[in-house]
Amino acid sequence: MSSFNVKSLDDLPNDTLNQKRVIVRVDFNVPIHNGVVTNDLRIRESLPTINRLLEMNSKVILISHLGRPKGKRSPEYSLKPVLDSLKKLLPNVTIHFVETIEELKEKSYQINPKEIILLENIRFYEGEEKNDPELSKKLAECGDIYVNDAFGSAHRAHSSTEGIANYLKPAVAGYLLKKEIEYLSKAISNPEHPYIAIIGGTKISGKIDVIQNLLSKVDKLLIGGAMMFTFYKAQGINVGKSLIEEDKIELAKSLLDQAKEKILLPVDCVVSDTFDFKNLKVGSLQVVEIHNIPENGIGLDIGPKTLELYSKELENAKTVVWNGPMGVFEIQDTAKGTLEIAKQLAKITKKGATTIVGGGDSASAIEGANLQKEISHVSTGGGASLEFLEGKILPGISILDKK
Ligand code: 3PG
Repeated sequence: MSSFNVKSLDDLPNDTLNQKRVIVRVDFNVPIHNGVVTNDLRIRESLPTINRLLEMNSKVILISHLGRPKGKRSPEYSLKPVLDSLKKLLPNVTIHFVETIEELKEKSYQINPKEIILLENIRFYEGEEKNDPELSKKLAECGDIYVNDAFGSAHRAHSSTEGIANYLKPAVAGYLLKKEIEYLSKAISNPEHPYIAIIGGTKISGKIDVIQNLLSKVDKLLIGGAMMFTFYKAQGINVGKSLIEEDKIELAKSLLDQAKEKILLPVDCVVSDTFDFKNLKVGSLQVVEIHNIPENGIGLDIGPKTLELYSKELENAKTVVWNGPMGVFEIQDTAKGTLEIAKQLAKITKKGATTIVGGGDSASAIEGANLQKEISHVSTGGGASLEFLEGKILPGISILDKK
């Protein structure tokens, strides 16, 4: 069933939360370097839910995974650095940290309302990713109410994201999950037109379902990133040494046959004669028209004429969804396409357009350019936002109580 009609925190009568042990599944799977969180966006985005529960006199129990420790305890994947971040963000709140579910259960009765317990990485339990019912039941016993606010993990049917909601009711969405559903569903069910999708990244293979789902809804689909070369190859155009997916050429052809008038491809690109991705090094760069890619040319970004063309298309858009960078944005010399598209999105947002950026690389590019506040919605989910835009039902959402 649809994910859009699930209950959220606001659908619970206020007194439901008073003095209750509320389990909140958050996605604190954040980058950590030398024991320090280097990007706390996902933690900050969970604060509206946490603060609301504290206000309502709840005992807040936070559960998250970090990385992929494969069911084994390992200090490298500890959530302790996240605890430090959380303490900085909530300096006046008592936050306890527990290593095990047994400890969590005991402490859940002992703490005072308006306090928080953070459980160590739930993926230290083998049953988590297996969605083991025994683990789900054990987790459910630690709370009275379940709130899922982990949009980034909503595409995973794991014990703490899905299984637990079979044993613990009410089970509702937190504010971050609600916001993600509202924006992303606008992109797939109720967009204002003109509606434009921008799809980039390296591979068509990872984006094919998104492209197919969005093609029937958008007025225009702008292509960028290395996947453009597979589309060109499909038209018999020489792409030099640019990255292509041989086995997706037929697919690219059939997409173009299906919707040639909707799909826009770059008209020029930035090429280099050498490219070392591991060390992020390019050789000598030049801008060429798509029909003039040299034999040894490796395409790494969209060119200025494409940017002009795409910017014009975007100018009057009322809804835009963007997933995937336009080029190798990790290197300054080939980041321009991605950056300029981000700026154009910020510009049209000011004029009233709804702009939605899927998580992952395009979200990092927006953050790198410090434009998060100027975009209507930057998703906190990578894989999750992609699956949502593919039209899939996400298990972490569909298991929640319906309105
Ligand atoms: C993410 O970062 O995309 C989510 O936290 C999910 O992580 P996973 O791909 O390891 O399940």
